[in-house]
Amino acid sequence: MPDLHELLRPLRVWDPAVTELPDFDPATAPADPLALYTAWFAEAVAAGQVEPHTMSLATADEGGLPDVRTVMLHGADASGWSFATHAGSRKGRQLTARPYAALGFYWPAQGRQVRVRGPVTGAPSAESQADLHARSTGALAAALTGRQSEVLSSLEELRQQSQAAWDRTQREPDAPVPSWTLYRLRPDEVEFFQGDAARRHVRLRYRRTEEGWAKELLWP
Ligand SMILES: Cc1cc2nc3c(=O)[nH]c(=O)nc-3n(C[C@H](O)[C@H](O)[C@H](O)COP(=O)(O)O)c2cc1C
Repeated sequence: MPDLHELLRPLRVWDPAVTELPDFDPATAPADPLALYTAWFAEAVAAGQVEPHTMSLATADEGGLPDVRTVMLHGADASGWSFATHAGSRKGRQLTARPYAALGFYWPAQGRQVRVRGPVTGAPSAESQADLHARSTGALAAALTGRQSEVLSSLEELRQQSQAAWDRTQREPDAPVPSWTLYRLRPDEVEFFQGDAARRHVRLRYRRTEEGWAKELLWP
């Protein structure tokens, strides 16, 4: 078995040989966090960041205990950041019990992190189905396979159900998946973190107030 601590010891973040940390001047940041998020997303794509549209989604269960997993970003606009999953999955049940979540993006190509927190609502069924059917056949087959987060008896059972789902996508490319839900997180807070080689990382937090977005710097 490899020695984990041996492997960890030489590892660093933001190796100057491969990572160029951009300057971020919070004084020039726009008034709305969505505008900054969109600019940073475009810069992550331009910097060659692998899979910038994947994010950690943190939820809490009925007892308040935390949970986290990776999901795909479906979009972000004035109504919030959106993602999709099965309402009956573990995270779906947690969101029913506590409709509040946090998202985390890490874009190491530029030493950037974005955190988003706020209440979550499920979109109406027709909108969720339209979002699913606009995606790939594989996404539909995976959604049709269903039973997400239930205990699986064998990989053979998964293979059979998945094959049946793929076959159905051929016959019925608009097959409905009633449990599939598009969720929107409407942020109360959005924080932008720009890593700095001298560890003077810049943290800019936007907080929603009755008068609009308040911006404040945070100690790193
Ligand atoms: C890169 C990546 C993207 C993923 N995207 C999604 C997604 O958009 N929706 C989803 O339900 N699960 C997605 N998953 C799977 C989830 O991480 C998770 O395993 C699954 O949703 C079950 O989570 P739960 O048991 O907490 O409900 C993705 C996994 C990875 C690694």
